Formats: sequence, structure tokens, C-alpha cells
Amino acid sequence: MNFSDELIKWYRINKRDLPWRNTSDPYHIWLSEIILQQTRVEQGMPYYFRFAENFPDVKSFAEASEDQILHYWQGLGYYSRGRNMLKTARKVMEEHRGIFPNNYAQLIKLVGIGEYTAAAISSFSSNEAKAVVDGNVYRLLARHFGIDTPINTTQGKKQFQELANSLLNEKNAGEHNQAIIEFGALQCKPKNPNCDICPLNISCHAFQNNLVSELPVKNKN
Ligand code: ADE
Repeated sequence: MNFSDELIKWYRINKRDLPWRNTSDPYHIWLSEIILQQTRVEQGMPYYFRFAENFPDVKSFAEASEDQILHYWQGLGYYSRGRNMLKTARKVMEEHRGIFPNNYAQLIKLVGIGEYTAAAISSFSSNEAKAVVDGNVYRLLARHFGIDTPINTTQGKKQFQELANSLLNEKNAGEHNQAIIEFGALQCKPKNPNCDICPLNISCHAFQNNLVSELPVKNKN
């Protein structure tokens, strides 16, 4: 089995049942991904439910006032995320006939949607073959492949993105991306990961060389 097959096999057994994983609607996936940008899953969950309930589609979101959006955002922090969402929802109404884009090229042009989020929404909603790289992915790849390039440098970002692209299962990009995020979050955790039960420990450079707590490397700034 290759790297992606191992991840997906692990994912099918160990994944959490998260509400945004039971939909292919790009609007709902967008809601979840923006909320989760700087927020933990457990903290973000009630916000996701509240937004999905009060704004069931992009039209209702676009018609809300900024005060209303920021009211539901209260407690999440980084309020520019909420403001940017409103801009994006209104743009989708005006320029995409109210149909939330499900492809990377259109998503990346929307405010608040960067490379990670465009890859997440497009792969989860339409299986587009774009690899996600977030903190979970940096950690897993740095450890498994023994990469000590600092993750917060231009060179590091490029190197990890290229590696993630090369590992992507192009036929099953959405599940592959969910699997790599979940594996980083639950198995290849930042602190005290239980490497003894890890299905990838045999081929893991960090585990074999006692470097798990040294990777990934981040430059001080
Ligand atoms: N964090 C960001 N996106 C996520 C997702 N789809 N599932 C779990 N955690 C996430």
C-alpha cells in the first residue's frame, strides 16, 4: 500500500463523524473551513451549527447585515473572517448567480479563501485534485519524511506543497485530504503522539531516528 492508501485505510476506521463531512455542498464546506481556520474543531462545531441553521444558503448569508454576522461570530475571534465571508457571499450572489463555486480557480479569487481553503473546498465538494497543506499536514510530512526545512519560510512552504501534491491520490482527492488532516489531528499529534500504534511508524523517519519531538522546525520571527 502507498502512503495515501495507508492514510485512507486508517481514516475509514478512525475518523470523527463531523457534520461538514456529510455534505458535498461547497457553501456548507466553506462555512466550516473558514470557522476552522483559527479554531479547534470542538470549539468551532456549535458555531458551524448556528451559522448553518440561521443562514441555510449563500443567499440568506449575503442578505444578512454585518452586525448580524458578527453577532453570530462572537467568541471566535479574528472578526475579519466574518467580514470577509459577507463580502464573499455577496460576490457569489452578484457574480456567480448565487451558486457557490466548487472549483479551485474560482474559489481562490474570493476574499478570505487562500490556497489551503480553496484546495479543501474544491476537493471535498467536487473531488478536484488539489492537495491541502495546513498545520496538521506540515507536522505529519516533516516527521514522516524527515524534513527539517522551516515550515514558515518560502522555501519550506514550496517544498511541503510539492511533496503533498506528489502524495495526493488524484482519483480520491477529497477523502485523501480529509484523511491527511485527520491523521495529523488525531494520530500524528503535536505533543505525545502514540507512535507505537501508528500504522506508518515503520516508514516514519522521525520515529525511527527519535526525532518526533524535533519536527516540524519553525523559524523564530
Ligand atoms: N480543520 C480544518 N478543516 C477540517 C476538516 N475538514 N476536518 C477536520 N478538521 C479540520
